[in-house]
Amino acid sequence: MTTNKRIALSSDHAAISLRQALAAHITELGWEAVDIGPTTPESTPYPKHGKEAAQLVSSGDCRFGIIICGTGQGIMMAANKVAGIRCGVCNETFSARMIRQHNNANMLSIGARVVGEGLALDIVDVFLSAEFEGGRHAMRVDMIEPSET
Ligand code: RB5
Repeated sequence: MTTNKRIALSSDHAAISLRQALAAHITELGWEAVDIGPTTPESTPYPKHGKEAAQLVSSGDCRFGIIICGTGQGIMMAANKVAGIRCGVCNETFSARMIRQHNNANMLSIGARVVGEGLALDIVDVFLSAEFEGGRHAMRVDMIEPSET
Protein backbone atom coordinates (compact mmCIF):
# COMPACT_ATOMS: atom_id res chain seq x y z
CA MET A 1 0.00 0.00 0.00
CA THR A 2 1.41 3.36 -1.02
CA THR A 3 2.02 6.04 1.57
CA ASN A 4 2.45 8.73 -1.08
CA LYS A 5 -0.81 10.71 -1.01
CA ARG A 6 0.32 13.45 -3.36
CA ILE A 7 -1.50 14.05 -6.63
CA ALA A 8 -0.11 16.44 -9.27
CA LEU A 9 -2.73 18.56 -11.02
CA SER A 10 -2.27 20.73 -14.07
CA SER A 11 -4.30 22.03 -16.98
CA ASP A 12 -4.23 24.50 -19.81
CA HIS A 13 -6.38 27.65 -19.93
CA ALA A 14 -9.48 25.63 -20.93
CA ALA A 15 -9.77 23.91 -17.59
CA ILE A 16 -8.68 26.18 -14.76
CA SER A 17 -11.94 26.23 -12.81
CA LEU A 18 -12.50 22.49 -13.20
CA ARG A 19 -8.93 21.80 -12.07
CA GLN A 20 -9.42 23.94 -8.97
CA ALA A 21 -12.68 22.11 -8.18
CA LEU A 22 -10.90 18.77 -8.53
CA ALA A 23 -8.06 19.96 -6.29
CA ALA A 24 -10.55 20.89 -3.56
CA HIS A 25 -12.33 17.57 -4.00
CA ILE A 26 -9.27 15.36 -3.69
CA THR A 27 -8.18 17.35 -0.64
CA GLU A 28 -11.53 16.53 0.98
CA LEU A 29 -10.86 12.88 0.14
CA GLY A 30 -7.60 12.99 2.11
CA TRP A 31 -5.13 13.40 -0.75
CA GLU A 32 -2.57 16.20 -1.00
CA ALA A 33 -3.26 18.28 -4.11
CA VAL A 34 -0.03 19.47 -5.75
CA ASP A 35 -1.71 22.00 -8.04
CA ILE A 36 0.91 23.41 -10.38
CA GLY A 37 -1.44 25.72 -12.25
CA PRO A 38 -1.85 27.78 -14.28
CA THR A 39 -3.99 30.21 -12.30
CA THR A 40 -4.54 32.99 -14.85
CA PRO A 41 -6.74 32.67 -17.97
CA GLU A 42 -4.24 33.51 -20.70
CA SER A 43 -3.87 30.95 -23.48
CA THR A 44 -1.12 28.50 -22.57
CA PRO A 45 0.10 25.36 -24.38
CA TYR A 46 -1.20 22.06 -23.02
CA PRO A 47 2.05 20.10 -23.72
CA LYS A 48 3.95 22.22 -21.20
CA HIS A 49 1.43 21.53 -18.44
CA GLY A 50 1.00 17.86 -19.26
CA LYS A 51 4.74 17.25 -19.14
CA GLU A 52 5.22 19.24 -15.91
CA ALA A 53 2.65 17.13 -14.06
CA ALA A 54 4.01 13.94 -15.62
CA GLN A 55 7.52 14.73 -14.40
CA LEU A 56 6.25 14.93 -10.82
CA VAL A 57 4.73 11.47 -11.20
CA SER A 58 7.69 10.01 -13.09
CA SER A 59 10.11 11.18 -10.39
CA GLY A 60 8.03 9.60 -7.62
CA ASP A 61 7.25 12.97 -6.04
CA CYS A 62 3.55 12.36 -6.70
CA ARG A 63 1.69 9.05 -6.70
CA PHE A 64 -0.81 10.10 -9.38
CA GLY A 65 -1.41 12.95 -11.79
CA ILE A 66 -4.68 14.46 -12.96
CA ILE A 67 -4.47 16.67 -16.04
CA ILE A 68 -7.15 18.55 -17.92
CA CYS A 69 -7.46 20.40 -21.21
CA GLY A 70 -10.43 21.05 -23.49
CA THR A 71 -10.76 17.47 -24.70
CA GLY A 72 -8.24 15.79 -22.40
CA GLN A 73 -6.52 14.44 -25.51
CA GLY A 74 -3.63 16.79 -26.19
CA ILE A 75 -2.44 17.02 -22.61
CA MET A 76 -2.64 13.21 -22.34
CA MET A 77 -0.45 12.80 -25.42
CA ALA A 78 2.17 15.10 -23.94
CA ALA A 79 2.15 13.37 -20.54
CA ASN A 80 2.63 9.96 -22.14
CA LYS A 81 5.94 11.12 -23.64
CA VAL A 82 7.47 11.21 -20.16
CA ALA A 83 9.17 8.01 -19.01
CA GLY A 84 7.05 5.72 -16.88
CA ILE A 85 3.78 7.55 -17.48
CA ARG A 86 0.59 5.66 -18.30
CA CYS A 87 -2.15 8.21 -18.82
CA GLY A 88 -5.58 7.76 -20.35
CA VAL A 89 -8.39 10.14 -21.23
CA CYS A 90 -11.51 9.26 -19.26
CA ASN A 91 -14.69 11.15 -19.90
CA GLU A 92 -16.84 8.46 -18.26
CA THR A 93 -16.36 6.27 -15.18
CA PHE A 94 -16.00 2.82 -16.78
CA SER A 95 -12.72 3.78 -18.43
CA ALA A 96 -11.52 5.47 -15.25
CA ARG A 97 -11.93 2.17 -13.38
CA MET A 98 -10.40 0.06 -16.12
CA ILE A 99 -7.27 2.13 -16.66
CA ARG A 100 -6.40 1.48 -13.02
CA GLN A 101 -7.49 -2.18 -12.87
CA HIS A 102 -5.99 -3.32 -16.19
CA ASN A 103 -3.48 -0.67 -17.29
CA ASN A 104 -2.07 0.45 -13.94
CA ALA A 105 -2.49 4.04 -15.09
CA ASN A 106 -0.68 6.58 -12.97
CA MET A 107 -2.27 9.61 -14.62
CA LEU A 108 -5.82 10.54 -15.53
CA SER A 109 -6.80 13.06 -18.19
CA ILE A 110 -10.24 14.67 -18.45
CA GLY A 111 -11.83 16.91 -21.08
CA ALA A 112 -13.21 20.05 -19.49
CA ARG A 113 -15.21 20.82 -22.65
CA VAL A 114 -16.61 17.28 -22.72
CA VAL A 115 -17.86 16.58 -19.20
CA GLY A 116 -19.48 18.67 -16.49
CA GLU A 117 -18.01 19.14 -13.05
CA GLY A 118 -20.24 16.53 -11.40
CA LEU A 119 -19.17 13.78 -13.77
CA ALA A 120 -15.53 14.86 -13.55
CA LEU A 121 -15.64 14.44 -9.75
CA ASP A 122 -17.14 10.96 -10.16
CA ILE A 123 -14.43 10.03 -12.69
CA VAL A 124 -11.75 11.06 -10.20
CA ASP A 125 -13.45 9.13 -7.37
CA VAL A 126 -13.54 5.95 -9.44
CA PHE A 127 -9.93 6.34 -10.64
CA LEU A 128 -8.63 6.85 -7.09
CA SER A 129 -10.56 3.96 -5.54
CA ALA A 130 -9.77 1.31 -8.16
CA GLU A 131 -6.71 -0.94 -7.72
CA PHE A 132 -4.45 -2.54 -10.31
CA GLU A 133 -5.34 -6.23 -10.61
CA GLY A 134 -1.85 -7.43 -11.59
CA GLY A 135 -1.68 -11.03 -12.86
CA ARG A 136 -1.99 -11.29 -16.64
CA HIS A 137 -2.35 -7.51 -16.82
CA ALA A 138 1.10 -6.95 -15.31
CA MET A 139 2.82 -8.71 -18.21
CA ARG A 140 0.93 -6.55 -20.69
CA VAL A 141 1.68 -3.32 -18.85
CA ASP A 142 5.36 -4.30 -18.79
CA MET A 143 5.23 -4.44 -22.60
CA ILE A 144 4.32 -0.74 -22.78
CA GLU A 145 7.68 0.78 -23.48
CA PRO A 146 9.32 3.19 -25.93
CA SER A 147 9.96 1.75 -29.35
CA GLU A 148 12.63 2.68 -31.93
CA THR A 149 10.25 2.29 -34.88
C1 RB5 B 1 -7.24 24.62 -26.45
O1 RB5 B 1 -8.02 25.42 -27.26
C2 RB5 B 1 -7.46 23.14 -26.78
O2 RB5 B 1 -6.92 22.84 -28.02
C3 RB5 B 1 -6.88 22.26 -25.71
O3 RB5 B 1 -7.47 22.59 -24.48
C4 RB5 B 1 -7.08 20.76 -25.85
O4 RB5 B 1 -8.41 20.45 -26.12
C5 RB5 B 1 -6.13 20.06 -26.73
O5 RB5 B 1 -6.11 18.83 -26.85
